[in-house]
Amino acid sequence: MLASIGLAVGFLAITTLLLALLLVFAERRILNYGPCTLDINDGKKSLVVTGGSSLLSSLAENDIFIPSACGGRGSCAYCKVKVLDGGGMVSPVEEPYLTPEDIKANVRLSCQVKVRRDIKLAIPDELFLAKRFQGKLVHKRKLTYDVVELRIALNQPESIEFAAGQYIQLESREYAGRDAVMRAYSVSSIPSDSRHVEVIIRKVPEGICTTWVFDHLQEGREVYLSGPFGDFKLSDTKAPAVFLAGGSGMAPIWSILRDMRERGDDREAIYFFSGRNQDDLFFTEELFALEKELPNFRYVPCLTREDPNSEWKGERGRIPAVLPKYIADATAYEAYLCGSSNLIDACVDALKQRGLQETNIYYDKFE
Ligand SMILES: Cc1cc2nc3c(=O)[nH]c(=O)nc-3n(C[C@H](O)[C@H](O)[C@H](O)COP(=O)(O)OP(=O)(O)OC[C@H]3O[C@@H](n4cnc5c(N)ncnc54)[C@H](O)[C@@H]3O)c2cc1C
Ligand code: FES
Repeated sequence: MLASIGLAVGFLAITTLLLALLLVFAERRILNYGPCTLDINDGKKSLVVTGGSSLLSSLAENDIFIPSACGGRGSCAYCKVKVLDGGGMVSPVEEPYLTPEDIKANVRLSCQVKVRRDIKLAIPDELFLAKRFQGKLVHKRKLTYDVVELRIALNQPESIEFAAGQYIQLESREYAGRDAVMRAYSVSSIPSDSRHVEVIIRKVPEGICTTWVFDHLQEGREVYLSGPFGDFKLSDTKAPAVFLAGGSGMAPIWSILRDMRERGDDREAIYFFSGRNQDDLFFTEELFALEKELPNFRYVPCLTREDPNSEWKGERGRIPAVLPKYIADATAYEAYLCGSSNLIDACVDALKQRGLQETNIYYDKFE
């Protein structure tokens, strides 16, 4: 009796496996989708690709890089594009990442859309400017116990055009059984230093890319990245700016402030940076020096868990608690926030309570 049940289960397992293999074979060989046309932004660009791959990889093979942080596994939702025709049904993998507004606007995860026939799609025009770069890590330095700065010299292409505040995607390599991945990092260098890209990376325990950066990536190694991406950048108004960041959220703001200095932008600006204690602070001397070079700029580091008996003379407490001392009325301000969701959400609430307009809030959430 037991033997015949085992035989039946075995037979079922083998049949299922054969069917799955047959489906994969059919998908790859028999279902030859042939050449398919990708019409991007109403004829702005037209590509002929071989059907069968995802929209994300078909575009990347033709040097159109859509942001992607999960390697196409359908779990980061960075790769959204508008698919106006030919994309088929929204898959169950996509559903959790698409809001009702997204679905109404034909937004899809490009990594989950298979190219099976001609497709019409729309992407932001800036994505035509994103490229894949090959470079060399020329400098890796520790900024705090859990933050490093990388300086990458670009080889191919040898320069990048970006706006201060934008981010790139760094490609990690396979190591210790962990897959290669792509992760977003804000550029901390300034646009005029176009032959290099600098990033500031905070270690995430067990994180795939950050462990590679901290433990495996050495100076002199070849590095690949793509970009620039994102619309986190300083507006071209003269409105007073309030910058708020914690940890590696420093990166885009460090770039924006030094770019302001270079352009002689003398708008009123105040920068609140959050850390637990003095060990979390970096670029402190440089930021206080900037107060002299940018006449309307003020730097306010805020420490939440600094030893009460230490000689620290700066602010103690979370940014939302410190902020009212410096900004009584935020109505005229623009706010630029970078870091964890918790920090950003708490600061946005505090600023809104002081009159900041929703439309004047710009942020990049890192997690
Ligand atoms: C637009 C944008 C810009 C960014 N810029 C920067 C930057 O300049 N510097 C920087 O250090 N990071 C930045 N990040 C975050 C970065 O892209 C990665 O998410 C982060 O480095 C973790 O990658 P990982 O592969 O090491 O971790 P993963 O393997 O992806 O994650 C491992 C685990 O850690 C959790 N996790 C992921 N990210 C964080 C985090 N930041 N803190 C705590 N837990 C986390 C995950 O939920 C998961 O459980 C940015 C993110 C975005 C979206
Ligand atoms: S690439 Fe991450 S969801 Fe598509």
